[in-house]
Amino acid sequence: MKITIQDFLKKKQQGQKISMLTAYDYPFSQIVDEAGIDAILVGDSLAMVVQGLENTLPVTMDEMIYHTKMVSRAAKNAVVIGDMPYLSYQVSVEDAVRNAGRFIKEAGAHAVKLEGGREFADTIRLLTKSEIPIMAHIGLTPQAIHRMGGYKVQGRTEDAQMRLLEDAKILEDAGAFSIVLEAIPSGLAERITNELTISTIGIGAGPNCDGQILVIHDVIGLFERFVPKFVKRYANLKEDALKAIRQYKEEVEKGTFPGKEHSF
Ligand code: KIV
Repeated sequence: MKITIQDFLKKKQQGQKISMLTAYDYPFSQIVDEAGIDAILVGDSLAMVVQGLENTLPVTMDEMIYHTKMVSRAAKNAVVIGDMPYLSYQVSVEDAVRNAGRFIKEAGAHAVKLEGGREFADTIRLLTKSEIPIMAHIGLTPQAIHRMGGYKVQGRTEDAQMRLLEDAKILEDAGAFSIVLEAIPSGLAERITNELTISTIGIGAGPNCDGQILVIHDVIGLFERFVPKFVKRYANLKEDALKAIRQYKEEVEKGTFPGKEHSF
């Protein structure tokens, strides 16, 4: 069944959880979509898990559009959300509308996500007015890695918790249809979830958000550099791929592949 962003609100109202995963290309998007996941984020995490970069900062708008096109092509039912890369929306609201619009117009996304709190409320207001549905993202925002001093849990103090709760409310008022809560204490995520009418999507934010998201390479065992505490690995595809490729190499070297059944 085709999912739309209206279903994010409906699911929250009906107490049904929203499932999200990232994907960055056609085959993985096809698998995630076929599994019935509600929404696919083409995350700027692709800088790390696909491009092999140190952090998410270098990935460009053109690269994000390239990957989002592949994901949109394969997703028949899931909502596709493009992730605004670093400096694609921070410099001016004009840039923000032009770049967010590219995800919708060129890449076939249904919505875009951007990191940041109240300082982006005006940007979200204008994007929403331009018919671009926005998923906000607060807590640990990886584009702020240098200010935050690493990938650290946010909202540890009472003041920081109050600020995150206020940010969430401001972003809801600005028009965001949903909000990612990353790496914050479960109790705070539960409070934000209860006080907002829009859906919260948690990653490292405990079980009481309206939905959950993880990076697909973490879920299926394709990213090894570090595994955050909040990740659950459901498969180890790297091990399976290694086994298959080693066997292929051995058979080529021994001359047992190709066999008669693979020859004309
Ligand atoms: O880039 C990304 O994949 C993300 C999710 C982890 C929320 O922002």
